[in-house]
Amino acid sequence: MKGRLITLEGGEGAGKSTLLAGLREHFARSGLDVVYTREPGGTPVGEAVRALVLDPAQRGLAAETELLLMFAARAQLVRDVLRPALVAGRWVLCDRFTDASYAYQGGGRGVDMVHIAELERLATEGLKPDLTLLLDLPVADGRARASQRGGADRIEAERDDFFERVRATYRARVQAEPRRFCVIDASRPADEVLRGAVAAIEALRAGETA
Ligand code: TMP
Repeated sequence: MKGRLITLEGGEGAGKSTLLAGLREHFARSGLDVVYTREPGGTPVGEAVRALVLDPAQRGLAAETELLLMFAARAQLVRDVLRPALVAGRWVLCDRFTDASYAYQGGGRGVDMVHIAELERLATEGLKPDLTLLLDLPVADGRARASQRGGADRIEAERDDFFERVRATYRARVQAEPRRFCVIDASRPADEVLRGAVAAIEALRAGETA
């Protein structure tokens, strides 16, 4: 595979959408052909799963059901979008990937990480991001930003302790794989956040041509 997979992660209100818009502009200007997709979502079945898991009406969803749905969407995305794009040598920017399952279902919901690792093997066929941009922000700050959007989905409606565990799990994953992650302080102004992300991506690109 010649393409590169970049993933974007962070808690609620960390500024993923703003960063994504900035990155789209950057890539358009620099002439890099990038495939944009998201999780859960990115395929017809994945988008249907997204609507289901984020629907506040699905109150009784078991943690295991939620986990399996995330991986069901992921298996389809890997086969229909990610692998074909990477095989064709394209760069892919994916808004969330497997790290989110470890953080939200593992950390947040307390599902055994061993099960998540097994599903990862099945669904991703060993596909790993080349670079993961993690927008890190204290939970209270993210909460304050997200509340301005209004209309919390089923997961956004979780309590602060859930999001503390999500954040701690992301940070633990950075400790375990520091070379894959670029952690960005999301409390910084949006242009600084964008600069940090662009620097990490350009370093990856420079490595390609070196
Ligand atoms: P977002 O990408 O718009 O932030 O919304 C996706 C939500 O789904 C977000 O709350 C994180 C959650 N999620 C999981 O819980 N597990 C996963 O594996 C993924 C990809 C997302």
